[in-house]
Amino acid sequence: MKRAGIGSLLVAAAALALAAPAFAGDVAAGEKKASAVCTACHGPDGNKPIAPEYPKLGGQYADYIVKALRDYRSGARKNPIMGGQAQALTEREIEDLAAYYASRPTTLADKR
Ligand code: HEC
Repeated sequence: MKRAGIGSLLVAAAALALAAPAFAGDVAAGEKKASAVCTACHGPDGNKPIAPEYPKLGGQYADYIVKALRDYRSGARKNPIMGGQAQALTEREIEDLAAYYASRPTTLADKR
């Protein structure tokens, strides 16, 4: 009895996890902001950066993008270009941008 109870709880929890997006970012709002600002360096969909040292963002995990942008903003991750970019972003914009880039097709590759 007890076992079945836990089992169905786990199934319910898994269903919830699948249904709920990890972040509440708004893809359309993120796309608007991205095409006004970020596309200039990271390219369309974040997939065609203007220089090889500019990272691709398309299909990156949303939580990774959120963390990267927060770290640039706080100075925990130092980069003169992205530090300046992130300073101008609100928390809402960071989540929207992350949702947008995570929703794009990826050209990221696992090299190992
Ligand atoms: C002027 C060019 C430029 C613009 C505009 C720009 N970026 Fe960047 N971005 C870079 C560069 C260069 C790096 C690599 C910095 C580093 O090495 O940490 C980077 C890194 C990043 C990273 C970290 C990626 C990783 O794999 O760790 C994220 C996320 C990011 N940018 C998001 C954005 C977003 C969102 C915008 C728009 C608000 C934006 N960038 C605008 C040049 C730019």
